[in-house]
Amino acid sequence: MNTNVWKVDKYVDNLENNPQVVDAANFLRENELVALPTETVYGLGGNAESDEAVAKIFAAKGRPGDNPLIIHIAERKQLNRFVTEVPPSAAKLMDAFWPGPLTIIFKKKEGALSEKATAGLETVAVRMPDHPVAIALLKTCGLPIAAPSANSSGKPSPTKAEHVLDDLNGKIAGVLDGGATGVGVESTVIDCTGTLPVILRPGGVTKEQLEEVVGEVREDAALKDQSARPKSPGMKYTHYAPNAPLFMVSGTRGFLQTLVEEKRGEGLRVGVLTTEENESFYEAELVLACGRRAELETVAASLYDTLRSFNQGKVDIIFSEIFPNEGVGHAVMNRLEKAAGHKLISE
Ligand code: TXA
Ligand code: MG
Repeated sequence: MNTNVWKVDKYVDNLENNPQVVDAANFLRENELVALPTETVYGLGGNAESDEAVAKIFAAKGRPGDNPLIIHIAERKQLNRFVTEVPPSAAKLMDAFWPGPLTIIFKKKEGALSEKATAGLETVAVRMPDHPVAIALLKTCGLPIAAPSANSSGKPSPTKAEHVLDDLNGKIAGVLDGGATGVGVESTVIDCTGTLPVILRPGGVTKEQLEEVVGEVREDAALKDQSARPKSPGMKYTHYAPNAPLFMVSGTRGFLQTLVEEKRGEGLRVGVLTTEENESFYEAELVLACGRRAELETVAASLYDTLRSFNQGKVDIIFSEIFPNEGVGHAVMNRLEKAAGHKLISE
């Protein structure tokens, strides 16, 4: 399949009538797949009402069928078609954070969406992206769009159209190239179907920000266990992983550099994931700065691009600094832990 690349300037007026956006929307109406920029990462969009389109999403990504998709909408009124109720907590969160990097889980109305999109669950995850190109595409096609991150399953999520093409060229109808995304890590997923809202995935909106709006918010127990015991072996799956094994390092820069020396002594090519503040300290085959430690938003924004860049450098092993587990650093550490398969070396 030929994969179209439609370049779109997100700042131009009247994006809904932009020929590139109209072209892409037509493919979506024909149940073909289009990758689109959002404020978090690129999504792989398909018609959420169509089993055919949704099956193509799972096939293109190589995604396990029991992992449900997020439904993207442009207007709140679209919710009525596939959600049974909007609890007060969800209404407050939508007022505060939509459009934006927050996905809310609702109780699902049966029969309105492809069963495959929600993996047969009784709930549905919904978000309104804060990106002019995404909103224009959603409005132009007029459909709810199921969109997981537009990477092959297991790889880092794409923050640039090039990343999408690296993974999916020839497998999808096209990608709307709106430049690099902003937040860089995926949306926060919050379940509003119970008595208290529960964070299932940390992301662009922090727990602190959520609690300011709805009061107490819980975190999924599985999430807490993993971050409380990051050294536990045999974590079942690795996600966001670069090709070479990645180890998180807790300790001084000097300690990390001794680990580098040790592996270089064994004849290995070593990569270091650091930040601009510490970049010049390390000596290794490939030292990559991932934003600035003093501003964790910049680390989130370049994390996936940095993880992908290690694959071009042909390193055998990667050591990474770790980050404060607070604010958006919580999402950064959650993704880094997955990329490392929870391997941590402490000084
Ligand atoms: O920022 C984002 O959320 C990006 C952009 C493209 O919107 N999308 C994204 O989708 O990250 P994906 O498929 O990579 O991650 C969706 C997450 C998965 O962890 C999935 O298990 C969870 O949301 N999810 C979806 N529906 C759910 C449901 N009904 N209940 C619980 N979790 C759900
Ligand atoms: Mg994903």
